[in-house]
Amino acid sequence: MTKGRRSSVPALSVGEVAARSGVAVSALHFYETRGLIRSERNAGNQRRYPRDVLRRVAVIKVAQRVGIPLASIAEALDTLPEGRTPNAGDWRRLAAHWRAELDDRIHRLQRLRDQLDGCIGCGCLSIKACTLRNPSDVLAADGSGPRILEPDGP
Ligand code: FES
Repeated sequence: MTKGRRSSVPALSVGEVAARSGVAVSALHFYETRGLIRSERNAGNQRRYPRDVLRRVAVIKVAQRVGIPLASIAEALDTLPEGRTPNAGDWRRLAAHWRAELDDRIHRLQRLRDQLDGCIGCGCLSIKACTLRNPSDVLAADGSGPRILEPDGP
């Protein structure tokens, strides 16, 4: 948040952000050290966050919960403008930036959900389906890892 950014919406203390977002103060401090969120200091030298920080924190929290690395989250948040509250168009751009990675994760999760009860091509030859889908571990020729679950590799 660039110095001098003023808003009619009162800024929030770290405790208020923690209470509303459900994220611990220590995690908010960590996010700030990683440049994911920013604050200003008030006259009493206390951190104050613009209210739109709640959306950033919510996106960080949900993205982490689905396994997106913090570095990827930081890269996406870096597409948001400095010095003003991001608007819908800014978030649309972020979403577009992230779409490919999110789609890939969705596809991997769907494959895991839908194929876990069958042969995943890992080489174990431990279930009946392996004799049909991976006889004598022929899929090993395509490379390492579960070749059916992750046909394109890790
Ligand atoms: S499940 Fe491992 S090779 Fe089939």
